[in-house]
Amino acid sequence: MGVYVRTLTINDLDKVIALENACFPEEERGTLAQFKYRLTTCGELSHGLFTMSKPHPDTPKGLSDFKPKEILIAMISATKTSAPTVTDASMKIPKQLLHIFDPSAPAPSADSPPAVPKAEGASQNQPPTEPAEPSSGADTLDPKPLKEFSPDLEGHVEAGDTVCIHSLCVAQSYRGQSQSQTLLKDFISRMRDAGVSKRIALVCHKETTGVYTKAGFRYRGISKVTHGGVEWAEMVLDYNVPPPKGGVRRVGSGV
Ligand SMILES: CC(C)(COP(=O)(O)OP(=O)(O)OC[C@H]1O[C@@H](n2cnc3c(N)ncnc32)[C@H](O)[C@@H]1OP(=O)(O)O)[C@@H](O)C(=O)NCCC(=O)NCCS
Repeated sequence: MGVYVRTLTINDLDKVIALENACFPEEERGTLAQFKYRLTTCGELSHGLFTMSKPHPDTPKGLSDFKPKEILIAMISATKTSAPTVTDASMKIPKQLLHIFDPSAPAPSADSPPAVPKAEGASQNQPPTEPAEPSSGADTLDPKPLKEFSPDLEGHVEAGDTVCIHSLCVAQSYRGQSQSQTLLKDFISRMRDAGVSKRIALVCHKETTGVYTKAGFRYRGISKVTHGGVEWAEMVLDYNVPPPKGGVRRVGSGV
């Protein structure tokens, strides 16, 4: 079977949602709004493993008007964060943008906080920036440093160092064929080569950590993420840290 990887776009939304819904229980899966947000804001971080459909073997040659279609076998959906690992905030759509991707969400009112808070109201997340030039006269902080250093910032942070995988899934009929490894390894090498992040992080069920250790991730303990109301294992792959020697660290009792 011929397979190929390409980045996902908003045109793949239906396929992406169908695969996500088939692979995760409702309380764990990403929402339609989250996928719209991720595919339009940072689509280059969402990759799909595809194959092309074939005509039915009984179709007489020359009589078919068969047109091959792309089949989404597996996907990775990701964003970037300024935190060193996946956080609940990194999974969200920023409040100020929610109404764009989720029509049921109320539009922010005129007195809502701005997308980039003013210096005065930003004390909690204020980064260690250089003092402002006295001559600048600016009454707002430069949005870039704020985004770089705010660990609680919601959604995708372009300047962040950590790529967060929020979903990895393989369609049922293609499981057990190393498709997750094909996609994961391709994703890791593309992210590393792009040179715009330091690590890839994700959370997964303890039972599935083996999928990720096989691809070079390390188990970092129980995550603080509360998504879905269940316990998550934190997995991180630092580009500069070589994979563990002497086998994979098992998760479970005795770790
Ligand atoms: C988990 C999942 C991505 C694995 O995809 P896959 O293509 O079938 O996995 P692979 O064939 O590449 O298997 C790679 C390794 O992981 C192991 N593995 C596969 N699925 C596993 C699972 N559900 N639990 C534990 N280990 C698993 C395999 O045994 C294999 O190791 P081995 O070669 O030493 O036997 C797929 O089953 C899936 O989409 N599940 C539903 C969504 C999900 O759970 N996503 C991941 C957690 S967030």
